[in-house]
Amino acid sequence: MHNSIFYSHLYRWYESNRRILPWRETKDAYCIWLSEVILQQTRVAQGMAYYMRFVERWPTVEALASADEAEVLREWQGLGYYSRARNLHKAAKMVVERGWSPFPARFEEIRSLPGVGEYTAGAIASFAYNAPYAAMDGNVYRVLARLFDIDEAFDTTAGKKRFRALMEELLDKEHARLFNSAIMEFGALYCTPSHARSDDVQGTKGLEEKCPVCPLVDFCLGHAHGTAELLPVRKPRPQVRDRWFTYHVYVYQPSEVSYQPSELFTIIRRRENPKDIWYHLYEFPCEEMSHEPSAISHQPSAGGNQLSFTHVLSHQRLHARFLIHRVERLPEIEGGIVIPWSELDQYALSRLTLRALDTMGHKGW
Ligand code: ADE
Repeated sequence: MHNSIFYSHLYRWYESNRRILPWRETKDAYCIWLSEVILQQTRVAQGMAYYMRFVERWPTVEALASADEAEVLREWQGLGYYSRARNLHKAAKMVVERGWSPFPARFEEIRSLPGVGEYTAGAIASFAYNAPYAAMDGNVYRVLARLFDIDEAFDTTAGKKRFRALMEELLDKEHARLFNSAIMEFGALYCTPSHARSDDVQGTKGLEEKCPVCPLVDFCLGHAHGTAELLPVRKPRPQVRDRWFTYHVYVYQPSEVSYQPSELFTIIRRRENPKDIWYHLYEFPCEEMSHEPSAISHQPSAGGNQLSFTHVLSHQRLHARFLIHRVERLPEIEGGIVIPWSELDQYALSRLTLRALDTMGHKGW
């Protein structure tokens, strides 16, 4: 491979096609870190608004470190995978405590922060400091698999090692910022998955149309061998786990004159298990079962309404049932807190709970 010719084709494509994204227009490592954590498992179109709000509200690592975790979770609401937000906050505190602010400069320091893996550390080191590290996200793995016609899974220990060795050869170490941005953008916009959605309208065209006019086609073994469309290969997905949840939505309207007559109250509860995907998020009181509830419990509660849907996460299928209980008095629920319905939006709620609230709103409950 003649790397310098490859680079010139890649960079020419990048300069004409790249998106202007706020985290690409800055060299502030803190901002770049924020953007990378937000964009893990989140598409650019959705992540943008969160990024803008975070940077505005907490413009420095010191500001984020002095926020309450609850505020950070509230701002994160809707992005899902809340451990990312908890790690973000924990990492900000660590940076300040260790005297690394405004942000650590060395790869090993960056890599040691909670929630920062090889990819994120490489992205920050290269985008902020132009340091000679690779930043291999899913887009980059796809481009490499096709360029080198690698049909080994990229998400195994052995596969990662093999791809990393290839990247070691290909990376433009003098211009790591430009190289990493360009190859990632090329994967996101041009060398897209054969079936899945892509980040760009160009992705609506199939590879059969794009490959023949691809700026890197002369370097692409996958295209030469007719395998590009089948690549990359992943390891088989782990079994998806089913969980069943029954939520109790209590709706209470006090009759005492001291309250606004229209004010409704409900009970919510914070999840307290640190291993839980929803640790420290609020929800309506619920019971969980590891099997499908019996048919009898599918009956709507007396005089109330119910709502059921399945919420799909990467490794779990959550079957949720919300029972709406209009009550004369609120029950005692361990750990439960009574709040006015209108204050629900001040708490960090799980996405599943938000989805239920949205549906209840549409149904006029
Ligand atoms: N996804 C993850 N990091 C990104 C970045 N820096 N630019 C665009 N999309 C991304």
